[in-house]
Amino acid sequence: MGDILDIIKSRRTIKYYLPKFISWENVSRILDAGRHAPSSGNIQNWKFIVVFEHDQKQALAKAAYEQYDIAMAGVLIVVCAEPEKGERYYGMRGERLYTVQNCAAAIQNMLLEAHSLDLGTTWIGAFDEEEVKSLCKIPPEIRPQAIIAVGYPKDVPPKPPKYPLETVVYFHRWRNKMRDPAKYMADISTILARKAGNVKQSLQGAAQSVVDKVKEKVVPEDKK
Ligand SMILES: Cc1cc2nc3c(=O)[nH]c(=O)nc-3n(C[C@H](O)[C@H](O)[C@H](O)COP(=O)(O)O)c2cc1C
Repeated sequence: MGDILDIIKSRRTIKYYLPKFISWENVSRILDAGRHAPSSGNIQNWKFIVVFEHDQKQALAKAAYEQYDIAMAGVLIVVCAEPEKGERYYGMRGERLYTVQNCAAAIQNMLLEAHSLDLGTTWIGAFDEEEVKSLCKIPPEIRPQAIIAVGYPKDVPPKPPKYPLETVVYFHRWRNKMRDPAKYMADISTILARKAGNVKQSLQGAAQSVVDKVKEKVVPEDKK
């Protein structure tokens, strides 16, 4: 798997999974990616419930308005938010907005790590919250945000259309679009290439001065 942008762009929401076991090593890497996500003030107000057991996966799939195909995935991860903690630190904004964003960041990290391991994922947001809470014995103050299905894809669907850059990017003001995105993108790559060249040059300079200093300190054998 290549560079991060390739991983981001080639990730797909998987609909059908092969009934295949996922190693704990892979699951733990995915969870680890989740816990390293950014969160408001680093409060990390999330918990991840890992579900391997077949009957519970089936029950969760039913609670997800009968999205039964996710029960075939090797594992389901129920991402839970702790809104009270968000509220304690940042008031209503923390409770309602940051908490959701924190969990979304953790979820996306997990999707990308899974994809980098050649595993497929589905971000499931549509489910009966009370049903999921009861199935996983989640206390009243905690809110399940998503169920992530992780497994070996049966097939990978084609990429759904994504809006082009110029449709979603404004400059400085709402609706102020870039006029010539191709030129702008070319400019960006020129700027980046120039910056990379500068970094390379300064590293070479630093390396050369270290070499020169070492040379100065080494006294030739015949001069000892
Ligand atoms: C908040 C959220 C909720 C979602 N809920 C579901 C869901 O319940 N079932 C499902 O099959 N996909 C769900 N998805 C996946 C989207 O349908 C999918 O990301 C979208 O179609 C774009 O496809 P892509 O992920 O392959 O780019 C959800 C995605 C998000 C971000």
